[in-house]
Formats: sequence, C-alpha cells, structure tokens
Amino acid sequence: MHIVVVGSGYVGLVSGASFADFGHSVVCVDKDAGKIAKLEAGVMPIFEPGLDQLVETNCRAGRLAFTTDLAKSISGADVVFLAVGTPSRRGDGHADLTFVYQAAREVAEAATGSLVVATKSTVPVGTGDEVERIVRQARPDLEITVASNPEFLREGSAIEDFKRPDRIVIGANDPRSREAMGEVYRPLYLNQPPIMFTSRRTSELIKYAANAFLATKITFINEIADLCEQVGANVQEVARGIGLDNRIGSKFLHAGPGYGGSCFPKDTLALVKTAQDHASPLRIVETVAAVNDQRKRAMARKVIQACGGSVRDKTIALLGLTFKPNTDDMRDAPSIAIVTALEDAGARVRGFDPEGMQHARAMMPDLQLCDSAYSCVEGADAMVIVTEWNEFRALDLKRVKALLAEPVVVDLRNIYRPEDMARLGFHYQSIGRPSLPVAES
Ligand code: UDX
Repeated sequence: MHIVVVGSGYVGLVSGASFADFGHSVVCVDKDAGKIAKLEAGVMPIFEPGLDQLVETNCRAGRLAFTTDLAKSISGADVVFLAVGTPSRRGDGHADLTFVYQAAREVAEAATGSLVVATKSTVPVGTGDEVERIVRQARPDLEITVASNPEFLREGSAIEDFKRPDRIVIGANDPRSREAMGEVYRPLYLNQPPIMFTSRRTSELIKYAANAFLATKITFINEIADLCEQVGANVQEVARGIGLDNRIGSKFLHAGPGYGGSCFPKDTLALVKTAQDHASPLRIVETVAAVNDQRKRAMARKVIQACGGSVRDKTIALLGLTFKPNTDDMRDAPSIAIVTALEDAGARVRGFDPEGMQHARAMMPDLQLCDSAYSCVEGADAMVIVTEWNEFRALDLKRVKALLAEPVVVDLRNIYRPEDMARLGFHYQSIGRPSLPVAES
C-alpha cells in the first residue's frame, strides 16, 4: 500500500517508520523544512529508543521517504494519516484543531484519486465529521472517506507498542475505510492483536477515555500514597495488594510526583471541555486534573520539609527532568513546577538529565545544568530524584553521600529502599512509604 503520513512529529514519525517496516511504501510529510532535511540525513528530531535504526533501515530499503511537498506525496496514496499536533487552545483547554483541518483541506486539494483520510492525532468527538465535510467540499469529484485510528503509544517504548499493541481501534462509518484500514494493519495479524472496528465517534472517544482512565488510576494511587504517609502504611504494598485483583490490575499504580507529558495533561483537559459542552460533565476527570496540578507543587513542599523547613540559600540537586525516562520530552514535566517552587522559596536549583538537557535549558533558564549525576549532587544540600532513569537506580550511594553537603535524599519515584538508605546514613524521604531513622554507625 502507498501510505502518506502528514506531520512528522512524535506520532507521525513512529507510525510512518513502523508502517514502512510492515512493508508498506510510506512518505512522511512535514512543513518544517529543517526537520525534513535532518530526517533525510538520518538525524532524529526526538529521542526515542530504536527510532533511528528503524528509519535508517526502511529508508535504505526504499520504503520510507521524507518530504515537505504534500501535494506531490499524495499522488497515488491509498491511505493518508493525519498526525499533526492538536495543542491545547490558549485560554480554554479545548484541543486546537487548526492544523488537522488545514491538513485535511490540503490533502483533499492534492488528491488524484479516491483515498482514505485517517486521523491519528488525538481529536475530540465529532472531528472526523468536520474533516469529512471539509474533504467533500474541497473535492466533490472524488470518493475520499474518513476514518479514526487513535494511537496508544507510550514515549520511550513507542516502537514496541506499535508492533505489539494491546489493541488496534479503527473507527469507520463506511466499508471502504474499514477495508483499507484492515489492509494497513494486516501485517500485524500474525501477532493477533485484537482489532476493534467501531464507529468514528466511538473511536475518537475511546482514545480520550483511555487516557483519562489511566490518569485517574495514577492520581488515585498518588492520593492513597499521601494517606499512607499520614497513617504509616506502604503505598507500594497497597498497590500490589489491590493490583493482584485482576479487575484492578497492577499497571499504572506507581505513586510519584504526578503525571506529565504530551498526552495526559492536554487530553484530560480537552475531554473535560467536550463533556461540559455537551452538558454531561466528567467530575472525576475534572478533579483528577486539578489534583495532579496541585501535586507537582506539593512535591516542592516535600523537599522543603526534608531540608528542615527552608531551602533559602540552599542548593538542591534534581536528578531527572523529563516527564518520564527514555524520552527527551519536557512537556508538562513535574520538574518544571518543582524547580519554579524551589526557586521561589529561595533555593539554588541544579539539574541533570540523560536526554532532556537541551529542552530543559530552553524552558528553565535559571536552572543550573550539570553534566552528570555526581557533579549535580556535589556540595548540594539535598538530592531529589524526579525521574526514574535507569542510571539513577544504581548510583554509587557511598560516593553520593560523600559528595552531598547534607545527606538528604528525596526520592519521588521510590527507586531506593528506605532501609538501605537509612543504613547508609541518609535522611531519606520517598512517596507513600514510612521514613526510617538513620541507623547508628
Ligand atoms: C500516554 C499513554 O500511556 C499512551 O497510551 C498515550 O498514547 C499517550 O499518553 P506517555 O505520555 O508516553 O503515554 O507516558 P506514560 O508512560 O503513560 O506516562 C505518563 C505519565 O504518568 C508520566 O509522567 C509517568 O511518570 C506517569 N506515571 C505513569 C505515573 O506517575 N505512575 C504510573 O504508574 C504510570
């Protein structure tokens, strides 16, 4: 099949390269000429494990190409995926659909024959109807049908998620779209992932409902963690104890500093807005978004408390700045709120991240960036683990203790064991687990 992917951001690039790897012929389009030039030279615009090899292999095999010329790429296309951005509209939290509608119009105008336009971008219910109206108006002479095909990729494991999905959701209101989309994913049938065909509107809502549910699960365990701290219980054991119930499941029950990233914060807000517009408010999701926002700032208060009630003129070392490991993405990362609150409280804040430094520099100009975890903690009054990168899981803790001015560690991801840290002489605070007194040496 000849597939065109419009938008070579995170979703577009991973999807395009993976479709090419299935054996389809794929062209990825983007308006950003600089990005396309880099991609052609094999330089990835994002950090995603395995993506550079996947792109290289498929370009070399002649199945994957990049261009800024949308019109030319559309000629002969069977399916065109829209994978452009849907940022939060400034001021009201609605998803901004300008890029989606613009891309749909351009695709229709350039079309040379019948094709399927499939939306991969996360779009509110009813967007497919508007896309259909736009393409019909632009090209009444052609049969252009519109499908919804949401992605459920996690940053950091996107390629694996694409190749071994829990499910594929295809929203299509006509047999042509259903057939073409089935053909796109046919190479995956060997792995037998459940493929769910449904209506376009249902498919659009599935994506938001999935993200809102996962955000709720995380926020639930985060609040249980707070309660654990008050009553002397252990949130990891609570999570295990409830997660073993198959109806609940053990995933997404890791308490932490609050969720961030390019999806959960934006999508929960957009869903809340859609629900309000339809006079069917989602109060649980409204509360989840508010609680998660407050939580990020509350993490700074936790650090201040661990430092004896004040961080004025103290140096705080943050390990991990991205919203999760294995990505360079800083969007809505808890570190941003934590840095701001600590700086407001008078602290000098330093940070280190294995991949996120470039974005961190642009977003937090006052943050002093260090070139390793050890140089970051040297002379600091506290070390705060914000993101659970693997390299922070196996730090030489004796060396860390010798480098720190004060042996204070705040572990917002629960990657160390309180008993080990107490034995090593750290004043150690984590999330939802009892702190132990420092062992006598
Ligand atoms: C998410 C969805 O998982 C994915 O299906 C969707 O397509 C896009 O949004 P992503 O944002 O890449 O993916 O990351 P994810 O692994 O879901 O984590 C999101 C946030 O939740 C991170 O900040 C992470 O640290 C946090 N999280 C996740 C927790 O705090 N606890 C958990 O148990 C799981």
